[in-house]
Amino acid sequence: TALKASFAPKLQPRNMSTNQLQPQASFKVAVLGAAGGIGQPLSLLIKMSPLISALHLYDIADVKGVAADLSHCNTPSHVLDFTGQDQLANCLKGVDVVVIPAGVPRKPGMTRDDLFNVNANIVKTLVEAVADNAPDAFIHIISNPVNSTVPIAAEVLKQKGVYDPKKLFGVTTLDVVRANTFVAQKKNLKLIDVDVPVIGGHAGITILPLLSKTRPLVTFTDEEVKELTVRIQNAGTEVVEAKAGAGSATLSMAYAAARFVESSLRALDGDGDVYECSFVQSELTELPFFASRVKLGKKGVEAVISSELQGLTEYESKALEALKAELKASIEKGVTFVKKKA
Ligand code: NAD
Ligand code: LMR
Repeated sequence: TALKASFAPKLQPRNMSTNQLQPQASFKVAVLGAAGGIGQPLSLLIKMSPLISALHLYDIADVKGVAADLSHCNTPSHVLDFTGQDQLANCLKGVDVVVIPAGVPRKPGMTRDDLFNVNANIVKTLVEAVADNAPDAFIHIISNPVNSTVPIAAEVLKQKGVYDPKKLFGVTTLDVVRANTFVAQKKNLKLIDVDVPVIGGHAGITILPLLSKTRPLVTFTDEEVKELTVRIQNAGTEVVEAKAGAGSATLSMAYAAARFVESSLRALDGDGDVYECSFVQSELTELPFFASRVKLGKKGVEAVISSELQGLTEYESKALEALKAELKASIEKGVTFVKKKA
């Protein structure tokens, strides 16, 4: 079908013979925040991609050791390290995809919005450098609060005169990964077959799984819908509490972000059948940014898929209306932050 989801990223080299791998690898990817809890396993996972020729690792903390370590994996990409603001421009030159997991994570009792004061500045500074040095790159924003950091990135790019809304993505893949896992467990389905679109944003009630649009077709009782929706919305907090002060999701996030990188590279490589959910500039609702399934192509978002917002259940319609006020406020907070600094 036209909406075939790309839930099985090809992270393994297709052929283990090195000389046959070389011709496939052509894209350059930068990870900003590469020494962190997400940055390290994410860099490992994307080091396995046969589509990448160069992996640029940047952090304000020393990233030399991470790069030396990863560089011994016999997969095609060359690994280069860049530590500190002075090396950021060089890190970004010529890259096709920039992934940004830089910033502080939550501790128990905090909301994602509590991270705004620190992470807003980090994302602003990094995206300014992306605008100056890699204005054509796909930008994947992982740093929280995503509902605000993506609008921050958009405003920065606008101010620099290089904003291409088709190439700016808030990474919400982890919400889809979680929804797929929890639904498969609950309904005893084969994991690889399950695909649940998740729309809205990436915080609390703004995360809205559309369980009625689950593939394969599956029916839920009202209780199951409520229980699964709340679990998916609180899954980040579930991990924050289990880690008890040591941070938030890093490994599942790295897995999800690697999937989104791989999908982006496949799209850049000309695969015409790549779909992912992402928080992007959107006209699906009255909100300027909204997460939904999008079709990815060589130039970024090729289409925002509207069909999944039609025929929602009453529960989903109400939840969609209920999330709009919070999401709108978070978007405006991000926009105002950049405008005030101008
Ligand atoms: P972490 O503290 O383990 O790592 C963050 C890294 O960013 C550190 O290595 C730090 O040195 C680096 N850093 C800080 N300021 C920087 C700057 N100006 N430039 C470059 N690097 C900088 O945190 P983590 O667990 O990896 O989480 C990172 C972010 O990702 C947090 O904001 C977290 O909330 C967010 N997150 C988002 C999702 C999502 O679904 N979008 C999921 C999990 C975590
Ligand atoms: C998540 O969903 O795991 C992340 O947004 C991190 C967090 O703070 O919950």
